[in-house]
Amino acid sequence: MRYLSYILILSIAAFAADPPEQAKRGKELFGLKSAAGYACTTCHQLEDQGTAVGPDLKTMGRLHPRAVVMGIVATRTQYVQELKPAKSGTIPVIKSGEIYFDLSKNPPTEVTVTAAELKAARDNADWKHPAESRGLTREQLADLIAYIRFATFGDTKGVDPKDLQ
Ligand code: HEC
Repeated sequence: MRYLSYILILSIAAFAADPPEQAKRGKELFGLKSAAGYACTTCHQLEDQGTAVGPDLKTMGRLHPRAVVMGIVATRTQYVQELKPAKSGTIPVIKSGEIYFDLSKNPPTEVTVTAAELKAARDNADWKHPAESRGLTREQLADLIAYIRFATFGDTKGVDPKDLQ
């Protein structure tokens, strides 16, 4: 019994530990605005920062780091839709909970979607992550993913940039 509570205390201590350096850098990068005014936190929420417009990154946190990179640089998306408003053109939107967000705005804003527009919606063909999210160096991506892994399951091993190739 004493042995068990020792293990319990140890594992709680491990999870509550401060993030290691790499995850700390990743956390900072996660909230850092680019010249164009975008940060990951503009559209994602992790721990205590950000807005949950885009998907919850914790659902990907345990995947191989390369899969997470694919999620950032991918040009084919899973969740974004294109709506055709009656006026003209299309707007990229994403549904988060019961709310639709207009991704052409920075930061994305809530939009009211009519049944007709929804009918005209199709899979997104144009929306991608902002250019600067896709242009990160391998070291920056490794830092960000180390942070996502730390926030998801307390990982302290970090991510080797070489594993992202
Ligand atoms: C302008 C909003 C926006 C910004 C800024 C943004 N994202 Fe995203 N992100 C999204 C949307 C929308 C999706 C869903 C794309 C889709 O339909 O597959 C997404 C998807 C992802 C995915 C894949 C998640 C999954 O479950 O498939 C990852 C990983 C990700 N983003 C990481 C990041 C990181 C890291 C940053 C900062 C460098 C970032 N994003 C910046 C909007 C954004």
